[in-house]
Amino acid sequence: MSAVSDSPSSPPSAPPLHPDVAHLACLLGQWSGKGRGVYPTIESFEYYEQVTIGHVGKPFLAYSQKTRHAITDLPLHAESGYFRPVGSDRVELVIAQPTGIVEMHEGVFHATEQGCSLALASTTVALTPTAQQVDSVTRSIQVHDDLMTYELDMAAVGQELQHHLSARLGR
Ligand code: HEM
Repeated sequence: MSAVSDSPSSPPSAPPLHPDVAHLACLLGQWSGKGRGVYPTIESFEYYEQVTIGHVGKPFLAYSQKTRHAITDLPLHAESGYFRPVGSDRVELVIAQPTGIVEMHEGVFHATEQGCSLALASTTVALTPTAQQVDSVTRSIQVHDDLMTYELDMAAVGQELQHHLSARLGR
C-alpha cells in the first residue's frame, strides 16, 4: 500500500518557524538541569528541572517547565506559558502556575554571538483568592550555545524584591 502524505493518520508535518519568532530560535528545545532556590522565609533547596520550548508556526513560543526536589525526588513547582515577541528587541511573557499565580512580563531581548539573553519584569501578577502573596517577579535568561542559565527574583509574602531561583540547563 502506498503512503498518502495527507491522510488523516499521517503525522502532521512540522510547520516552519514564524518569521516574527525567528530571532527567538535560540530558546527552542528540550532543556534539563539543576537549580537552587532560596528565600528568607523558607529553607534553601535544590531541584532538577525540565523545560520544553517549542512552536507551532505561529508568532509565539510555547513554554512549559516542571521540577523535582533534588533530595526527595518529589514534584515541586511547574508552570507553562508563552513568549510573545514584540518586534526584534522586546518580548512579552505570560505564565500560569498551579499555585494560583499568573505572571505577565515585558522585557528586552538581545541576540548574542552564541545565543541570546532576555531581561523581563512583571507588569501584572494575578493571584487566585487562595494563592500566596506575590507582588512582582523578574526573570533573566541567558542562552550560550546549548547552555541556558536563568535567575528569578520576587517580591512576595511581605519581602522586598530578592533572589528566589537560579539554574543551569543543558539542551
Ligand atoms: C523552578 C521554579 C520554582 C521552584 C522549584 C520553587 C520552589 C519553591 C519551594 C520548594 C518553596 C518552599 C515552600 C514550598 O514548598 O512551597 C517555595 C516557596 C515559594 N515560592 Fe517558589 N519555586 C519556584 C518558582 C516560583 C515562582 C515563579 C514564584 C512566584 C511567581 C514562586 C513563589 C513562591 C512563594 C510565594 C513561596 C512561599 C514563600 C513562603 O511561604 O514564605 N516560586 N518555592
